[in-house]
Amino acid sequence: MLINPHTIPQVSNAMMNMLHEDEAELVNKFHDAVCARGIEKIDSLFEELLFDVEDHFTTEEAMMEQNNYDFAQVHKADHDTMREKLKKTYEEWKATKDPSKVKTFLEKEFKQWFSLHISKWDADTAPYLG
Ligand SMILES: [Fe+2]
Ligand SMILES: [Fe+2]
Repeated sequence: MLINPHTIPQVSNAMMNMLHEDEAELVNKFHDAVCARGIEKIDSLFEELLFDVEDHFTTEEAMMEQNNYDFAQVHKADHDTMREKLKKTYEEWKATKDPSKVKTFLEKEFKQWFSLHISKWDADTAPYLG
């Protein structure tokens, strides 16, 4: 298991906690497929994950906008960095179909980012989302 659901930092907004829990579940399924090197399964779960992450980010960004959160742009910038990394990793995957690169990305970048982003940005933002 890449992300133990019990280790996801909790924030003071139920919607955000739900998004994070669902995303961790999907990332774990994706990581299993990557470890099993199942090309077709990786293809479909990768697309599912891109869709899920976009939904997670845009939901938070809309909530920040609705509540005029002062640091919305900085928070969004950290989403944008991960959007770019995911896009790059997906393009590399499509070109090479090499699960080991996806595995490295998940284990060495995504996992740490997920926990850090939630404990810093999502936790700071949550109390301002009404
Ligand atoms: Fe989040
Ligand atoms: Fe966020």
